Amino acid sequence: MSSIMTQPETAACPAQPAVAARTLVTRQAIHSAVYTDPGIFEAEMRHVFGKAWLLIGHESQAPEAGDHFVTTAAGRPVLVVRDRSGKLHAFYNACPHRGARLRAQAGVGWPSISCPYHGWTFQLDGAFLSLPAIDEYPEAFRAAPPRLRRLEAQESYRGFLFVRTKAAGPSLEEFLGPIRDVIDDLVERSPKHELQCKPAILRHRYRGNWKLTFENLNDTIHAGFAHAVAARIASDLVAETPEQGGDPLIGLMMANGKPISFFQGLRMTLGRYGHSYFEAHMPTAYPDEVASALADSFTANGRTPPRGLAAGNDKHLGLLYPNAVWHARYQVVRMVYPIAPDETEVVTLSFGLVGAPESTYDSARSYCNGSSSAMSPVITDDLEIYEGIQANYRHLTGWHPITRGLDEDFSSDESARQVRATSEAFIRNQYRTWLAYLEAPDHA
Ligand code: FES
Ligand SMILES: [Fe+2]
Repeated sequence: MSSIMTQPETAACPAQPAVAARTLVTRQAIHSAVYTDPGIFEAEMRHVFGKAWLLIGHESQAPEAGDHFVTTAAGRPVLVVRDRSGKLHAFYNACPHRGARLRAQAGVGWPSISCPYHGWTFQLDGAFLSLPAIDEYPEAFRAAPPRLRRLEAQESYRGFLFVRTKAAGPSLEEFLGPIRDVIDDLVERSPKHELQCKPAILRHRYRGNWKLTFENLNDTIHAGFAHAVAARIASDLVAETPEQGGDPLIGLMMANGKPISFFQGLRMTLGRYGHSYFEAHMPTAYPDEVASALADSFTANGRTPPRGLAAGNDKHLGLLYPNAVWHARYQVVRMVYPIAPDETEVVTLSFGLVGAPESTYDSARSYCNGSSSAMSPVITDDLEIYEGIQANYRHLTGWHPITRGLDEDFSSDESARQVRATSEAFIRNQYRTWLAYLEAPDHA
């Protein structure tokens, strides 16, 4: 079994030195050109997405030998294949002959990897296998035929597969830092500490820069304004029919209507490399009977239910800068794909908890439909705002402040710090990382 997953690619990713990014960002403000300038975008693809560890999927998307899925990393097409020994390989999805795509879609159980153009064939670990009319090639070529090219770095953390398109850089463990807590929070909701990616993969596109998503999802102040109508509808609904309050989507809509003072009382954790998350936001995702069945499944597996399952102990919206967003409470991970300066695609994966009652997936399904699909009454508010900002920045160039909570900022040598959840410190943290990526030497 395997799931379908096809990501779009960025239009261009030429080798280009970083533009003068430092002139466009200060500790207190961002210039609109950061969102619109094609040179900045190309530099981001090469230096930000090119140097960071990027989440490309989950091991359960290719569970058997020969199973595979396609995606992109830093705008480059990637093919992930499981070999006969069970190892996953991330290759560039380009044939070494003339560069054709080896596969455009996910699939099940290949015996080998065959190019659709001239029939060159490779083993599942990327080694050369055969090609037609091989006798016509020079002997030197036949003695050392090419293999598939791997991504420069590949590591997994608890089933999540990460790659990097530069060989040099921090280990995945160092890169993740405190954001590991968010991944652990999701994985440890399974009594077997194992996730299963579901085939229902959602995606949406908006006409706006990728950074608008990262600057929104930990912005707690916006919730009560951008989502005020949805929050009011949900509150009215629950006032009339209180049992509706147990619906995950209704719960999310109502939580957005909480006063600013509530969010000021929450903590946000900032990590190195631009990561952040906040916590203790909403009641538990599961209805009582589902939570009880889940607790029983932990007992049956000899494990204690994790702290994150208790109401108010979840870790909310973990931002793994620059390409992934974890929402452990709803068993959902989003991946952010820049397409162009003014176009972004967001892909949402949802996960079943292996060993848990299937009913624990109901809230994930509801949350996906309610927050990540085209019918969402929540994300459509954000997308409309992103597109308005992007359209304005095309014509109204200038500086925009990011000074909320400025006094709480942490110094660059601290690996993690907690700040008030209403602070814009997470945005300043992202731009500190952004500048570091753009200004580091290309080999760094
Ligand atoms: S491009 Fe792949 S076999 Fe020719
Ligand atoms: Fe929002």
